[in-house]
Amino acid sequence: MGEDFAVIIRLSQFKPSAYDTKLANTPQEMEAWLNPLADAGVDILHCSQRRFWEPEFEGSDLNFAGWAKKLTGKATITVGSVGLSGDFFGAFAGQSSDPTSLDELTRRMDRGDFDLVAVGRPLLSDPSWVKKIKENRTGELKGFSKEALGELVLD
Ligand SMILES: Cc1cc2nc3c(=O)[nH]c(=O)nc-3n(C[C@H](O)[C@H](O)[C@H](O)COP(=O)(O)O)c2cc1C
Repeated sequence: MGEDFAVIIRLSQFKPSAYDTKLANTPQEMEAWLNPLADAGVDILHCSQRRFWEPEFEGSDLNFAGWAKKLTGKATITVGSVGLSGDFFGAFAGQSSDPTSLDELTRRMDRGDFDLVAVGRPLLSDPSWVKKIKENRTGELKGFSKEALGELVLD
């Protein structure tokens, strides 16, 4: 591919069957994992977490995307329970989530921890989610229910 083609790689520290297990247990281990990818030409690291606000390592509040950016200098995407009270494993177990504030997300983004934010479930239940955020219509945001996994919601 050409130089102007952005390569994004999705990364996860955990497995759905063992989400307390991490591939990298220290920043040094994460560096050894991610820097070869950065050197090979990956442009953006998409760092999957269950809850974006959880620190990746002790001693700093940086999340996975925050550490990935700090260690590689590459742009990063954060994801995981943005705008929702419960995580996506709970959704598959039938638990509902309510809309939550984006203040912690914007605090981290304004600090430069990551460059982009991905959302999963909010868009499945509400295709207007981004538009509502942009227009500050936070009172109109919807939560996520197990029924939303079984239906296609269109604007
Ligand atoms: C119905 C559904 C299907 C998903 N399928 C995939 C998938 O195939 N590959 C993947 O990497 N993540 C998948 N995910 C995880 C999402 O990409 C995302 O990481 C997760 O939903 C957390 O974001 P959220 O809290 O905004 O929903 C899926 C999530 C949902 C709800």
